[in-house]
Amino acid sequence: MKVAVYDTKPYDQEYLRSAQVSKAPQLDLTFYEFKLTPQTMHTAKGFEAVCVFVNDELNRDVVGFLYEHGVKRIVLRCAGYNNVDLESCEKLKIPVFRVPEYSPHAVAEHAVALLMTLNRKTHKAYNRVREGNFSLNGLIGFDVYQKVIGVVGTGKIGRAFAQIMLGFGCRVLGHDLYPDAELATKGVEYVSLEKIIKESDILSLHVPLTEQTFHLLDRERLWQLKPGAIIINTGRGALIETKGLIEVLKKGHLGGACLDVYEEERRYFFDDFSNRIISDDVLARLLTFPNVVLTSHQGFFTHEALTAIAETTITNLLIPTDQINRYGLQK
Ligand code: NAI
Repeated sequence: MKVAVYDTKPYDQEYLRSAQVSKAPQLDLTFYEFKLTPQTMHTAKGFEAVCVFVNDELNRDVVGFLYEHGVKRIVLRCAGYNNVDLESCEKLKIPVFRVPEYSPHAVAEHAVALLMTLNRKTHKAYNRVREGNFSLNGLIGFDVYQKVIGVVGTGKIGRAFAQIMLGFGCRVLGHDLYPDAELATKGVEYVSLEKIIKESDILSLHVPLTEQTFHLLDRERLWQLKPGAIIINTGRGALIETKGLIEVLKKGHLGGACLDVYEEERRYFFDDFSNRIISDDVLARLLTFPNVVLTSHQGFFTHEALTAIAETTITNLLIPTDQINRYGLQK
């Protein structure tokens, strides 16, 4: 099977190649560094499958083009699928595979890393001591112990995050359409969205991006957060209305924001812009706040997760066509 693999970096290629060699030497993978978008979709001609990541743009036009040119499956190298027009895929009978679980711990642990960086300012301390500055001025943090942690979305990643925070000795509140009974027995108290927003000292988002969760934290809800609260977003950028976030940060209402994702990340994330101008003023403004820690969608970026992503992706490419009996999202 000929597969066009989009938005790949050397590390993606390395892990995919290694899984392919051991599991499926018959697959013919062509790696592209650019994303699959309406502008690049012509490059999918002649392939039977496309393999994409979080910021490829598979809207109705792209899915229609893929269908017309004989692409018979879409294989995502990620868990989220908000960037694929599933309705069109279902209509055109294109199955969409994803990696529903590769390492929830990778993302949950990154959320904790962001929180502890922002809180204890280790990013600043690291630079200071390397320059011979051993002063502690401005580095005061707080004990996370006994703080109220809100976890919105207690699926695989949210559950892992909640358990880590229980281990820190926190009071953990949860909010989910489907509360997890086992997590509740471990001490997570399920509450409404309104309550979790109003009562959390630290609020972490782990829901998928859907029509219902788009701007879940909009300007109004951001103002309802406890003064001094910290928000963590390792889910998807558009769970937060970024302009509203900038407003509450400017007014000093929030303690800070730990972000691994950003609404308009597609243009910048995963690439080196250190010698170029960032023309996105919202992103540029976010980067000026001393109480914002931003990483470039790297929650998933561990050896274990990359190995699991590559193996599941290759497995998804190997599923025989005659065994696929449903279209759109597979699982
Ligand atoms: P999951 O499907 O296991 O859990 C999501 C949870 O959210 C479920 O329990 C679901 O019931 C709940 N939920 C959905 N809509 C809701 C709503 N409107 N209100 C309340 N709860 C709702 O997904 P998982 O694996 O935990 O991943 C969560 C998200 O994390 C993914 O959708 C993806 O966007 C993001 N992610 C980010 C990564 C990163 O590198 N930063 C890597 C992997 C995933």
